[in-house]
Amino acid sequence: MADTRSFPDGFLWGTATAAHQIEGGNTNNDWWAWEHRPDSICAEPSGDACDSFNRWREDLAIVASLGLGAYRFSLEWSRIEPAQGEFSEVALRHYRQQLEAALAMGIEPVVTFHHFTTPSWLAAQGGFEHPDAPALFAEFCARATERLGDVLSMACTINEPNVVALAGYRMGAFPPGVADRGRYEVVTERFCEAHRLAQSAIKAGPGSFPVGMTLSMTEFVAAPGGEARLASIRALHEDVYLDATRGDDFLGVQCYSREVVDAKGLVKPTAEQRTTQMGYEFWPGCVEHTVKRAAAWTQNPIYVTENGIGTEDDGERIEYLTEAISGAHQCIVDGVDLRGYFCWSLLDNFEWVYGYRPKFGLVEVNRSTLKRTPKASAQFFASVAKANALSR
Ligand code: BGC
Repeated sequence: MADTRSFPDGFLWGTATAAHQIEGGNTNNDWWAWEHRPDSICAEPSGDACDSFNRWREDLAIVASLGLGAYRFSLEWSRIEPAQGEFSEVALRHYRQQLEAALAMGIEPVVTFHHFTTPSWLAAQGGFEHPDAPALFAEFCARATERLGDVLSMACTINEPNVVALAGYRMGAFPPGVADRGRYEVVTERFCEAHRLAQSAIKAGPGSFPVGMTLSMTEFVAAPGGEARLASIRALHEDVYLDATRGDDFLGVQCYSREVVDAKGLVKPTAEQRTTQMGYEFWPGCVEHTVKRAAAWTQNPIYVTENGIGTEDDGERIEYLTEAISGAHQCIVDGVDLRGYFCWSLLDNFEWVYGYRPKFGLVEVNRSTLKRTPKASAQFFASVAKANALSR
């Protein structure tokens, strides 16, 4: 295992969640509607999720008890702006309380402004296909920052716009369930514009903290003859967004595995290969690969804002995290400006179309009682963070 005591001063150890996956009762966004379609492809609806809208104090207390320096969570846009142009003071106060509590516990709050969910009122107008969507998103960011900016440590504008675009507009797996190259390209452009406008809106508000985007990245490997195809997949899925983040305060890299590409496209892992609950290859080496690629491409400081594994076997999670963190360490040894690592996820939560089956949490959440129980991997991750506590 890596010498975890040699991470640089100030390296941020954290864990991450997203509003729709943990809060529960987020009925006013496109995902809730997607889960409840009669022909829904979701394994189950999000329902009460982990009830973190009410239990956030308990969640924060767990983060604190693990000695982690940061917690990344998202603001639910549909709660803050339930109807176009109507902002909920109660929702803003709710998030403000969380942010203040995190700071009081010595936890840096890292906030994502858009993590996969779009308010129903905007979805009804075409979501991010609408030409005004970037400006509407930026307006939400401005209003939220006005009330919360002074208690933020870091901001992520949009979480994995490349996944939202690909899954929503090419694969039909996320709302709005479309498979259309032209619409996909429109949405990609809108997301890049939304990121730029949101960044300016957030920076114009109170507080002074780094603002960036988070991107889903994969270690793509070419099978013989797959080189050209790999380059085109990567260009469409990653490079266009990497370009859009050049010059940002940071880029959040989120990676889970690697994928092999042959001349026809992506190759599914074979039966002999070790896979996770998501069907991905068990491949913690993706951290080192994707962080190095993102840093070389953008020259931005990098945070791993998500990395983890969906598995029932918590020992396997420890094995995965050990190797992944070792890869993160190697990046630093090799001169990459990597500033933090956030494990996905704090809690076993709503894994989008897969429902509650995949277990990504450092903390188990009993589906009947919603009781939280930290797993051995939580203690393991805490010990890694602790080994670095002196340098924080
Ligand atoms: C997303 C998370 C998701 C995780 C695991 C990322 O694509 O940001 O919301 O739960 O991967 O699949």
